[in-house]
Amino acid sequence: MVRYLASAAIAALLSASAVSAQNADIPTCGPGKKCPSDTPCCSAYGQCGLGAYCLGGCDPLFSHSLDSCVPNPICKSADYQLNNLDDIAMIDEYLGDTDGVNWVASGRPIEYPDGGILLTMAPDTVGTLLATTHYVWYGKISAKMTTSQGKGVVTAFIMMSDVKDEIDYEFVGVDINHAQTNFYSQGVTNYNNGDEHEAQNTVSNSYTYTIDWKPDSITWYIDDTEVRRLERSSTWNSTSNRFDYPQTPSRIMISLWPAGLPSNGEGTIEWAGGLIDWNSRYMQNGFYYARLEEVSVECYDPPRGANVSGSKSYIYTDYRGTNDTIAVTNKQVVLGSFYNSGEDPEDEEDDQPSGTSSATRPTRTAQTIPGVVGAGSRGEEPIESSAPQDSGSSNPSGTRAGGNDVDTPRQTGSGVFFQGDDEPAGEGAAVRVGGSVFAVVMGVVVGCLVL
Ligand SMILES: *[C@@H]1O[C@H](CO)[C@@H](O)[C@H](O)[C@H]1NC(C)=O
Ligand SMILES: *[C@@H]1O[C@H](CO)[C@@H](O)[C@H](O)[C@H]1NC(C)=O
Ligand SMILES: *[C@@H]1O[C@H](CO)[C@@H](O)[C@H](O)[C@H]1NC(C)=O
Repeated sequence: MVRYLASAAIAALLSASAVSAQNADIPTCGPGKKCPSDTPCCSAYGQCGLGAYCLGGCDPLFSHSLDSCVPNPICKSADYQLNNLDDIAMIDEYLGDTDGVNWVASGRPIEYPDGGILLTMAPDTVGTLLATTHYVWYGKISAKMTTSQGKGVVTAFIMMSDVKDEIDYEFVGVDINHAQTNFYSQGVTNYNNGDEHEAQNTVSNSYTYTIDWKPDSITWYIDDTEVRRLERSSTWNSTSNRFDYPQTPSRIMISLWPAGLPSNGEGTIEWAGGLIDWNSRYMQNGFYYARLEEVSVECYDPPRGANVSGSKSYIYTDYRGTNDTIAVTNKQVVLGSFYNSGEDPEDEEDDQPSGTSSATRPTRTAQTIPGVVGAGSRGEEPIESSAPQDSGSSNPSGTRAGGNDVDTPRQTGSGVFFQGDDEPAGEGAAVRVGGSVFAVVMGVVVGCLVL
């Protein structure tokens, strides 16, 4: 049987975009298929749009032009103590201004009274995904966190570039005594890159997981113990004549997502230990959750020989999407609205006095928030409606994955946020065999379109 291994970041919101693809006429993008000029940006989910489609995750290789995506904000060394939501914007509130915020979220992160934040996944939602606004082009990245548990529930801490280079830590909810590691190059399927490492009860023990990513090697650590090392030299692919090694600027992403959804690939479901149980004993507070306490980033200098003419962003200068096509520049782009792109960052009509601007704008139906189309997102509303740039408080389904205004559970005793202490039932997680992020995405999206 062919087993697909979904990648956390991509699959996290996949079902939302896949389902909606049946209803909406959203252009798709991928190898050999670039986005059209009116919806120039290719999202990580393989669909074309504007606004947030042009920000984090926008794939320059399949977008309308190399300028369609907004330049990647440069690496920033930092130690993020995540004790509240102050530094997190929802995806429909962020237009690219990194001065304002270091994290962008979809789904529902909530503050945890004892410190840290919870990534939650309520019934029939697609979980929560947090991503940094800044990219890393080599660096040492750590996340201190606990994982969720239960069949079909996956917690992940990964680095992912816009051309889908990927370095992973993943935790399947049926095996709380192992961390899995993996890597991908430009989303290409490889069944041999995964590995797993012992840990003790990742649900109740908060470990620090570290990815030390250098131009020549990647080292994974759990607390201070090295658990895996990958040399670039071992990744040579003589077919494609290049190293299948993560080599492009990547965002830090932390997510909780339902791998065990019937709409996901069979191999993904099997890997995750089966279909998710929305009434399981692990969700006594009404949701699955993982707790994130701290993320630290130490940026390394751009690699020797890099094309450096500035200090603010990374851009792709060529469609090969390899390390030598990255330039470090001073280009910075903040979109004027969710109807702009990197090719057209400012909507001139926005300069008109308020009250007249929205009325004079054409009605457009382009999607603007990837991954949540068709779920009540603002992207489906005509721009002429009142307050078109409203940041989404009237958007209870969509990005909020169940509503941002649901009462945040308060601590009433040690039992709050209890997920159950029992070892998960079942035979443990299937060993991960690999699979392309991109194959999974395209498989599901295209599959739905064909139905
Ligand atoms: C080498 O690259 C080709 C083209 O991208 C890909 O199809 C193939 O799976 C790669 N080989 C390995 C061993 O990953
Ligand atoms: C890109 O990677 C190659 C190995 O494939 C290496 O020789 C070269 O120095 C790298 N260049 C940059 C700018 O990182
Ligand atoms: C270096 O980067 C600039 C963009 O900043 C680009 O125009 C130029 O082609 C790049 N040079 C090389 C040799 O790739």
